[in-house]
Amino acid sequence: MTQKKTAGKAFESQNYILMDSDFHFISQFVHDRVGIVLNAEKRTMVHTRLVRRLRALNLKTFKEYCDLLASDTKDHELPYLINAITTNLTRFFREQHHFDHLQNDVLVPFVRQMNASMSGHKHLRIWSAGCSTGEEPYSIAMTLCEAIPNIAQYDARILATDVDTNVIAHGKLGRYKEKNEITHDLVKKYCHVYDDQSIEMNESLKNLVHFKPLNLISDWPIQGKFHAIFCRNVVIYFDKKTQMILFDRMADAMVDGGWLYIGHSETLHQICDDRFRLIGRTIYQKVK
Ligand SMILES: C[S@@+](CC[C@H](N)C(=O)[O-])C[C@H]1O[C@@H](n2cnc3c(N)ncnc32)[C@H](O)[C@@H]1O
Repeated sequence: MTQKKTAGKAFESQNYILMDSDFHFISQFVHDRVGIVLNAEKRTMVHTRLVRRLRALNLKTFKEYCDLLASDTKDHELPYLINAITTNLTRFFREQHHFDHLQNDVLVPFVRQMNASMSGHKHLRIWSAGCSTGEEPYSIAMTLCEAIPNIAQYDARILATDVDTNVIAHGKLGRYKEKNEITHDLVKKYCHVYDDQSIEMNESLKNLVHFKPLNLISDWPIQGKFHAIFCRNVVIYFDKKTQMILFDRMADAMVDGGWLYIGHSETLHQICDDRFRLIGRTIYQKVK
């Protein structure tokens, strides 16, 4: 049975008590490593998600777990902690207006320009940063296939990254159980639907999307510049300073005039508005 102590000093569940000192240690550790802020409201969530890990490790207390993290110089435990803490909510074509903009205002003019330039180098790079289980980068891939019928003649790649290694593995598999995903026409068009109503992305989509584990607050081993970056519903978990550094680095990683899509509750106002101009609802263009 789960119990929340009324004094607010500790949370108890099946004999595991999350003391203030343990919660503060874990919060600081997570913030330092991946930028995620775990404030007091997240305490129950931290407790619930980590109790499973403590059991798997046969640890008796959260203090023992904190000691393990403190002595984990080779970062063996870090992925387990991060995978437990991240929130991965996502869906296909979340915020449809972003995909409409990508198709009509970015890809269609891009193709026109490519056809006119005769340069022959049809190079297109898009980054889904904080891609979760893959629904976002696959939605980008479907949009590309719709906007560019001869996509095979392009050097087009979608980089899909996330700090959570479990979601990266899921994205690579490209298989989803949710029945309601197939109500979207494009999902029906570009996926194989199994008898049990689960779906799998077609190979043509899988070939466009390259999944890699990557921590946004660490180094980015990335070559070349992106024409567009989707970084949606990721920085809501970061503090303002981390957001400022992140979007500044993203501007550096984009071509001039590149596009940035952020989450519906996020903004660049007073964060990075010297480098991006607001063009539409949570859609920005790099200006310098
Ligand atoms: C709520 S999901 C958003 C997924 C997708 N972008 C969308 O909008 O549907 C947030 C994702 O950000 C990832 N994330 C959190 N901190 C991160 C970091 N420091 N580096 C990379 N990804 C991170 C989480 O693992 C999670 O999968």
